[in-house]
Amino acid sequence: MLNAKRVLLIVTGGIAAYKTPELVRQLKKAGASVSCVVTQAAQQFVTPLTLQSLSGDKVYSDLFSLTDEHEMGHIELSRQADIVIVAPATANMLAKMAQGLADDLAGTLLLATDKPVLVAPAMNVRMWEHAATRDNVAMLKKRAIVFIGPDEGEMACGEWGEGRMSEPEEIVAAIAAFLDAEAPLKGKRAIVTSGPTVEPIDPVRYIANRSSGKQGHAIAAALKDLGCAVILVSGPTHQPDPLGVQTVHVESARDMLAAVETAFPADIFIAAAAVADWRVDLQAPQKIKKSGGAALPEIKLVENPDILAAVSKPGPRRPALVVGFAAETETVIEHARAKLAKKGCDWICANDVSAERKAFGGDENTVHLITRAGIEDWPKQSKTAVARKLARRIADHFAAQTHVSGKTSA
Ligand code: PMT
Repeated sequence: MLNAKRVLLIVTGGIAAYKTPELVRQLKKAGASVSCVVTQAAQQFVTPLTLQSLSGDKVYSDLFSLTDEHEMGHIELSRQADIVIVAPATANMLAKMAQGLADDLAGTLLLATDKPVLVAPAMNVRMWEHAATRDNVAMLKKRAIVFIGPDEGEMACGEWGEGRMSEPEEIVAAIAAFLDAEAPLKGKRAIVTSGPTVEPIDPVRYIANRSSGKQGHAIAAALKDLGCAVILVSGPTHQPDPLGVQTVHVESARDMLAAVETAFPADIFIAAAAVADWRVDLQAPQKIKKSGGAALPEIKLVENPDILAAVSKPGPRRPALVVGFAAETETVIEHARAKLAKKGCDWICANDVSAERKAFGGDENTVHLITRAGIEDWPKQSKTAVARKLARRIADHFAAQTHVSGKTSA
């Protein structure tokens, strides 16, 4: 239900915190990985050790912990998550969120996150009904914070009314429903290529390029985040395999083509890999010796298969949407347009890879999305942002097609 989703659970200081070990257990049972942050007050109701034992991950509580900051910056905690849950969310925490206060780790993470935030309030009925809380809730809803509960029932203080935290299974179901609605590419299957290919000269030497895999891996992760089933075919890189993405590791262009063909069928194909255009004709079986004379070894190159062109060929197995990249150092748009036509793909992402732009290996990219309808000039942004924009653009494309075919058949 929550397969491979990364949940950041922020536990604040209310009596309902005693239910959070069960919430962690149920989130894990549903397939999520869970990291917990506890406020000082929460630790009066639930021990970090209990949450750590059940989540199998370190529990964070201190904004100024040198060890935690060394291991992982606090911003990273919320960036690495797919979704942030505040449960229980006290009246105090809702007020802090509404005001944007960042005076502890929980508040700082909630202010720094770029991920969806869901809250499960828990408080006395009078606190829930207080005008201050009503205003805070209204403000948070306006900012797209999603509320789960609270439920009506008997409170720990003996009063009856609205303010009980929803039960752990209701919270898990609400998270699953939210993620489902956020998954416009659910049911679609994508193959993404990433990184360089390496073409051996002899058993120890090879020809390669400077691709780091950052862009291709980010695209695979962004598609997965929209519910797509993704197979990433990657050349050698230092990037970790994206969580929830099936990753196939290859070396040469021919290996990459074979892995792509094995991964078929697919609805979407994205060629972000920097595939070597040529390979060495005859790989030496032994290390080539330095002879010391004037005769330098000669390397004869032959052309590699073009994976993007092969996948783009019309036929029953052709993915509905084929997206290439064009790495250019001059007349970027013109060359990219020519590649789109020559290779037969549907869209091409043109990026300027001149040395000063640092597109190869860097963290940012400036992309021009060329489709048959025209060009979109995207601003320079992080490769993660490029990936998310492209994934959204793909989701919109399929949504528009469903709309059109729905109209046609009506
Ligand atoms: O990996 P990073 O460091 O994050 O850098 C990202 C990137 C700059 C490598 C990426 O954004 C990018 O531009 N990838 C394509 C690089 C490339 O090889 O471009 P090209 O213009 O030479 O090739 C055009 C297209 O054909 C590409 O989609 C490429 O994957 C594909 N191709 C090329 C040759 C070949 N034999 N087979 C292919 O499929």
